[in-house]
Amino acid sequence: MSINKEIKKVTTHTLQKMKVAGEKISMITAYDYSFAQIFDAAGIDVILVGDSASNVMAGHETTLPITLEQMIYHAQSVVRGISRCLVVVDLPFGSYQGNSKEALNSAIKIMKETGGHAVKLEGGEQEAESIKRIVNSGVPVMGHLGLTPQSIYKFGTYTVRAKEEAEANQLKKDALLLQEAGCFAIVLEKIPAALAAEVSASLHIPTIGIGAGGKCDGQVLVMHDMLGINTEFKPRFLRQYLNMHEQITGAVQHYIKDVKSNDFPNEQEQY
Ligand code: KIV
Repeated sequence: MSINKEIKKVTTHTLQKMKVAGEKISMITAYDYSFAQIFDAAGIDVILVGDSASNVMAGHETTLPITLEQMIYHAQSVVRGISRCLVVVDLPFGSYQGNSKEALNSAIKIMKETGGHAVKLEGGEQEAESIKRIVNSGVPVMGHLGLTPQSIYKFGTYTVRAKEEAEANQLKKDALLLQEAGCFAIVLEKIPAALAAEVSASLHIPTIGIGAGGKCDGQVLVMHDMLGINTEFKPRFLRQYLNMHEQITGAVQHYIKDVKSNDFPNEQEQY
């Protein structure tokens, strides 16, 4: 096997060093080979194969329906497209909440079958035992607190979490517990910026925010949202960097016109 020594790979240790150095961590979701290749070459630090695939790839209303096998398919495709960034794969709903053995088995299946570098799971105190077991087996775990979409039916709404003191205190406690359990990083989703800043300062592991303000150690966005593939989802925290929906619509309409008018293919575009 030949190893390209020129490529400096991002590891969980790199992220730890970035936190210490005050260098922000960039993370984006991806679900397939082609986009993973573009994001990796663009210099992204971390690709998250998110269970948001359930929404943006499969068209489900929530993240709950996606299966472990489907996550594995997406992760395998992403891993084939990257050569440098860290790939974190979401453990889907129902693949880890049963008990720590189930959680370990799901994490091992993902690592063995995808070539991903770490797993992510949602939840605090109640997942600490599973996190310890997975980390003890050698698999790095990223935590996820705040708005945890797999619990949407418990929350009943996608609004900001931990605005009340009791939930904020529980979140601070959970963040410390996840760190103690061995998480290498924690996603903080849709919580007040001041709370995210306090949690980030209290931990020695990095936090990655989404709708959690600028004091987190890094940021993550869902690729379909930041590239403007989705046009209906416009939460306040989202910065849209492209309007791919408009650009793709224009390109496809142009193609349709060229086909209908017999302009495509021309003399040079045939054999
Ligand atoms: O699945 C996902 O895309 C996520 C991010 C929103 C953090 O978990």
